[in-house]
Amino acid sequence: MSKTILVTGGAGYVGSHCVLEFLQHNYNVIVVDNLVNAVKLENQEMPESLIRVERLANKKLEKYLTGDLKDQQFIDEIFANNHIDIVVHFAALKSVGESVAKPLEYYENNVSGTINLLKSMRKSKVTKLIFSSSATVYGDPEVLPLVETLPTGQTCTNPYGRSKHMVEVVLKDLCKSSPEWSVMSLRYFNPVGAHSSGDIGEDPQEIPNNLMPFVTQVAVGMRPELKIFGGDYNTPDGTGVRDYIHIEDLSNGHLKALEQITTELWKDFHPINLGTGRGYSVLEVISTFESANGVKIPYKIVDRRPGDVTELYADAKLANEKLGWTATRDMYDMCASAWKWQSKNPKGYKRD
Ligand code: NAD
Ligand code: WQD
Repeated sequence: MSKTILVTGGAGYVGSHCVLEFLQHNYNVIVVDNLVNAVKLENQEMPESLIRVERLANKKLEKYLTGDLKDQQFIDEIFANNHIDIVVHFAALKSVGESVAKPLEYYENNVSGTINLLKSMRKSKVTKLIFSSSATVYGDPEVLPLVETLPTGQTCTNPYGRSKHMVEVVLKDLCKSSPEWSVMSLRYFNPVGAHSSGDIGEDPQEIPNNLMPFVTQVAVGMRPELKIFGGDYNTPDGTGVRDYIHIEDLSNGHLKALEQITTELWKDFHPINLGTGRGYSVLEVISTFESANGVKIPYKIVDRRPGDVTELYADAKLANEKLGWTATRDMYDMCASAWKWQSKNPKGYKRD
């Protein structure tokens, strides 16, 4: 019998790619999303990302529900009315800058929202969870590569990062409280790129904070130039270095996690990095984008962005050993797919 997966935040960037992967591998999927960062067009029943996911998979979701994790009764009802085997929890607010201005909203949404979800899960005896964590929990690290055994939370630079760390603390304590729980906390590095069809991708509803969507919006003519935040870092070319991971590698990592989480091996709390293990500088990203796509990216080097760190990249061995997963796509693939999505959909999911 196919398992049923509840996916929170499944209309978003990472969620939509993972839902597609799950449908293509014969899982039943129920999505809940409050649409704070997803587009639902007039007269449509579902967010546009999920309409396209169903088309690509040639398969329907079991259910789509618009609703909010902050609403305990709504979440309780989902579990009361549906058989759910595993929860994959993407729903969160994720803008670092906004989190500094609105810490209470971030803690309420990301931490309290997760606690609501966990309470409903416990009530219905659903004890398998895959959580979207982030490399941000490592803060400003003293050693690289970042390995899962390093301390977390101590040097987080913003409320968003701390909210992810706090959820990990809650999850660890929950697993200690009862041996029934199996929790994988997948610490993503920098997800970029789009599905190979170019039909789903990253569609920020505000000015992009992240590098790749900014680059594609410059390439498509929406913005005149990219501002590179800092050219004086202690890196080979002076610009910041990150471990970018192709979104299709990331969704494949979630598939492996789903396949494994029901085995006894995964009882308790397990943090796992999902990264490539290789860092690229901002200038390397730009030059790969230009050569992969034949598009020029005008840029200007400006001051460093507050809170940014010099360099981050993963030790990706644990995911390989435990999940049999490894990233296979390189920066060229990431840039080519990001541009395919943006050039096919210059306004993202909106029609005008
Ligand atoms: P996203 O904003 O595209 O997707 C999140 C989805 O969750 C959105 O569709 C939003 O409408 C929904 N949502 C938010 N709060 C909700 C709530 N209270 N109830 C119901 N739905 C809610 O973001 P993403 O890039 O797809 O990120 C997915 C997850 O991965 C997040 O938890 C994020 O923190 C984490 N993550 C993202 C990155 C990244 O760079 N994209 C890196 C590391 C970790
Ligand atoms: C990458 C590099 C910037 C934009 C953030 C969050 C992290 C995680 C992933 C969720 C850096 C530079 C960027 C621009 C630039 N999210 N840059 N000009 O900061 O590594 O991580 O997203 O968990 O928590 O902090 O990603 O894409 O913003 O930046 O020069 O317009 O690009 O300085 O070196 P970051 P990013």
